[in-house]
Amino acid sequence: MILVTGGTGLVGSHLLYKLTLTEENVVAIHRKTSDLDAVKRVFSYYTDDFEKQFQKIQWVIADINDLPALEIAFKKTEYVYHCAALVSFNKKDYRAMRKINIDGTANMVNLSISNNIKKFCYVSSIATIEKNTNGKIIDETNDWNTETNNYGYAITKYGAEMEVWRASQEGLDIVMVNPGVILGSGFWKSGPGELFTKFYNEFKFYTLGVTGFVGVKDVVKSMMQLMKSDVINERFILVSENSSFKNLFFKMADSFGKKRPTVNVTKTLSNIAWRLEWFKSIVLNKAPLITKHSASASLSNYTYSSDKIIKAIDFKFENLDTTVTDVCKDFLK
Ligand SMILES: NC(=O)c1ccc[n+]([C@@H]2O[C@H](COP(=O)([O-])OP(=O)(O)OC[C@H]3O[C@@H](n4cnc5c(N)ncnc54)[C@H](OP(=O)(O)O)[C@@H]3O)[C@@H](O)[C@H]2O)c1
Repeated sequence: MILVTGGTGLVGSHLLYKLTLTEENVVAIHRKTSDLDAVKRVFSYYTDDFEKQFQKIQWVIADINDLPALEIAFKKTEYVYHCAALVSFNKKDYRAMRKINIDGTANMVNLSISNNIKKFCYVSSIATIEKNTNGKIIDETNDWNTETNNYGYAITKYGAEMEVWRASQEGLDIVMVNPGVILGSGFWKSGPGELFTKFYNEFKFYTLGVTGFVGVKDVVKSMMQLMKSDVINERFILVSENSSFKNLFFKMADSFGKKRPTVNVTKTLSNIAWRLEWFKSIVLNKAPLITKHSASASLSNYTYSSDKIIKAIDFKFENLDTTVTDVCKDFLK
């Protein structure tokens, strides 16, 4: 039996689809408030027969902070994919992120130990990796740095990694992936999916910042390959290509046949934008669209290496052009 958390999110829903193609017993947890139709929509990008695939999943209501409910979900489980997290750059979400990302992950690994789980896959992020490398390409040897990774989401994903490493010391076989910005179909109103909506609507702005991107299909494929491999107690950066936001946004606009963005957001413009957003968020009591961190991240220049996973399991990434073209096609469906 395979247990998946975060199955109603971007990574988890694509993972569930792929698992239902090859595995008999797939259990996924969801919260009472989760939108299961979002999962069906993701399945519908792969097949017209999406209901049949969806019915193969056994859904159990459980929050990762609800131990008794999780204990039920763990019954007969042998393998765990832990994708659930709160992803936010809003300072107001810091406490909630600590509870979900760190405490929730501690619950998942503790139950995995007590239930003798054979292998545990954790989805971390490049947010936990030291960026200050004097221009050198960033790889898995770059450890955490409190000075450069000091924003809420990164701190809580790092805290979660510590729980997973602790569990590995206590005997749980783990693999960990650290994806860059994940591009994939579905969830067009949140996370990186919202970028596709913006460029379909001819968003005018771009930045020259560079970061690592990866398609959700590659994230899921690498996780499944790692779980089937002999590799244990290792983490892997997942970045198919390092690209400027300008290059990515131009690709999106071109794929939609829409106008390319024309306004280069400089540091000065971005500083004004996040401050205005911060002010608006206080007045309207709404989450800001841009934060100080997201503004600075979109201008930073970071390049990542995925050599470790390529060598470890002979992994082949899809190129960014193909990812963007495919996701844009799904968006238009
Ligand atoms: N998106 C990216 O670009 C990116 C990049 C690097 C790493 N990651 C990591 O990849 C993983 C998946 O991200 P994603 O983009 O798929 O996120 P997502 O679309 O926001 O989905 C988050 C998932 O976590 C679930 N969840 C949140 N709190 C929960 C709780 N207390 N109990 C149970 N489930 C809970 C959500 O369930 P509901 O449906 O109930 O809300 C949802 O299924 C995360 O660990 C994230 O940190 C993401």
